Amino acid sequence: MSALLHPARLRLGVNIDHVATIRNARGGEHPDPVRAAALIAQYGGDGITAHLREDRRHIRDEDLARIQAATDLPLNLEMAATDEMLAIALRHKPHAACIVPERREERTTEGGLDAAGQHNRLVPIVSALRDAGIRVSLFIAPDERQIEAAMRLGAPVVELHTGEYAHAEGEDRSRELRRIADMAALAAKNGIEPHAGHGLTYDNVQPIAAIPQLAELNIGHYLIGEAIFCGLETSVRRMRELMDAAR
Ligand code: PXP
Repeated sequence: MSALLHPARLRLGVNIDHVATIRNARGGEHPDPVRAAALIAQYGGDGITAHLREDRRHIRDEDLARIQAATDLPLNLEMAATDEMLAIALRHKPHAACIVPERREERTTEGGLDAAGQHNRLVPIVSALRDAGIRVSLFIAPDERQIEAAMRLGAPVVELHTGEYAHAEGEDRSRELRRIADMAALAAKNGIEPHAGHGLTYDNVQPIAAIPQLAELNIGHYLIGEAIFCGLETSVRRMRELMDAAR
């Protein structure tokens, strides 16, 4: 594709949650997600993504400051829309915050944040993050209603949930891909920067990476899983190559 159609390089944010999942399985310090974050910077990752869950099942509070100190890569903090997480985000001031659903009632049928149904709860959280200079993103299903809700909320970024695409096969996958492409175009047309993520692998990343409006992919579980077999450097560099080749 021409450089005109793809003016900017597609960024790769690497989600390091599952390094922490393995660490926490033994309750000690190894493997340290902070070491992964520092290496990802060397291996061509453009950002670090980490989800501080309410139950702290992987990333812990103290990891955030350590990640920020260990690398110059921008940190994208995934967080539930709660007062507790807002206070943590305002304290750490990550480059970006991506609001994700954690409880059943916060989700759309496709699993993204119900930005339309949760409008009133999201208004103060989005504006507090924005006022603090944190780039706000909403993790939503590729659905027109959710894009419109993101516009009403003044979110500068949406991350389109690729989970349905990743799990679908055949014609269902093609339909889901078209939905993601259409919603990326709709977001961009309305001044919202579209990102995408969830369930992406070497096998399914390229049709998503080829969507011209997408500015960033966030990928975690597969990269960390592959790293067990071939190392983190190989898994991150291979994903980077596949993304670049798709553009
Ligand atoms: N983007 C968001 C908002 C996420 O919550 C996650 C983790 O579920 C990812 C991307 C990465 O998904 P995966 O680990 O399946 O690559």
